[in-house]
Amino acid sequence: MNPILSARDLTRHYRVSRGFLKGNATVKALAGVSFELFAGRTLAVVGESGCGKSTLARQLTLIEEPTSGSLFIDGDDAARVGRAGVKAMRKKIQMVFQNPYASLNPRQKIGTQLAEPLAINTGLSGAERTEKVQAMMARVGLRPEHFYRYPHMFSGGQRQRIAIARAMMLNPGIVVADEPTSALDVSIQAQVLNLFMDLQDEFGTAYVFISHNLAVVEHVADELMVMYLGRAVEVGDKARIFARPMHPYTQALLSATPSIRPEARRIKIKIVGELPSPLAPPSGCAFHKRCPYATERCHVEVPLLRPLDGREVACHHAEAINS
Ligand SMILES: Nc1ncnc2c1ncn2[C@@H]1O[C@H](COP(=O)(O)OP(=O)(O)OP(=O)(O)O)[C@@H](O)[C@H]1O
Ligand code: SF4
Ligand SMILES: [Mg+2]
Repeated sequence: MNPILSARDLTRHYRVSRGFLKGNATVKALAGVSFELFAGRTLAVVGESGCGKSTLARQLTLIEEPTSGSLFIDGDDAARVGRAGVKAMRKKIQMVFQNPYASLNPRQKIGTQLAEPLAINTGLSGAERTEKVQAMMARVGLRPEHFYRYPHMFSGGQRQRIAIARAMMLNPGIVVADEPTSALDVSIQAQVLNLFMDLQDEFGTAYVFISHNLAVVEHVADELMVMYLGRAVEVGDKARIFARPMHPYTQALLSATPSIRPEARRIKIKIVGELPSPLAPPSGCAFHKRCPYATERCHVEVPLLRPLDGREVACHHAEAINS
């Protein structure tokens, strides 16, 4: 089976102004990320604020063009398919944002907004579109009368259901969800997560699921990618990583989450200090200023992802640390 989504060494740099005297600088928001995702599977992406998760999401959904690297959707190389090809690819990869209100048009009825992708991309008649929209609304737990209502008339959880319905309208193979439940009440979060999982079972959709909440990640993920300052530091099977995290940063993240299984918490590492600025990332391993195991080599040499114990780890001393 071929991956439905494949990223190879994706990078994204931003030029930013540092003010009149300091001039411009380059933020390496994404510094080379690779992974493969298969149909019906969920890759969760975790990491501290500013590590590049949303930047990755914007590259994957073709909202932005990466500075370098390749992106394959259903086997097609986004850089080689031309404009019409990119348009076709966009239908296969949809995004769900943290704040559903911002992604809905406040002046348009929900039914009209949900029918829009069908109007643009299919030859369905008005009646057929309405029927499809009603079916999808029922599927995500909305009632038929909601078709005629405006976004402000819904609760946060309902709005996220609407956003999910819209993302699913064209049955994309992939949905990228960027913190889709973090803005919701805790009591609603589980319902929305379960909706994601039910839809995945029914349609075989692959998810890239971005979340800082490790309990959520444990619930939804098959694979896990832990990011630090624009790079993946540990990638692999979720259960394996949760049971035995091998990168010092993953160990620290998991040990800081009380709700995670106790066996994953046996290693107690505190993440000390601030996340360094991607404007001036530390040399060598970007984690070295906060890592209790850092050596001279870590200050100078960037550790690359390499296979270790059934996952990939980017740490020079992973074997010694985990022996
Ligand atoms: N358009 C942009 N212009 C300049 N810098 C940007 C831009 N977008 C992101 N960045 C910078 O790139 C880095 C990564 O940002 P990004 O939003 O991808 O992080 P994140 O992991 O999604 O964080 P959060 O958890 O807070 O959502 C940050 O330092 C951010 O300031
Ligand atoms: S490479 Fe060095 S600094 Fe980086 S995580 Fe491993 S031990 Fe720590
Ligand atoms: Mg973000």
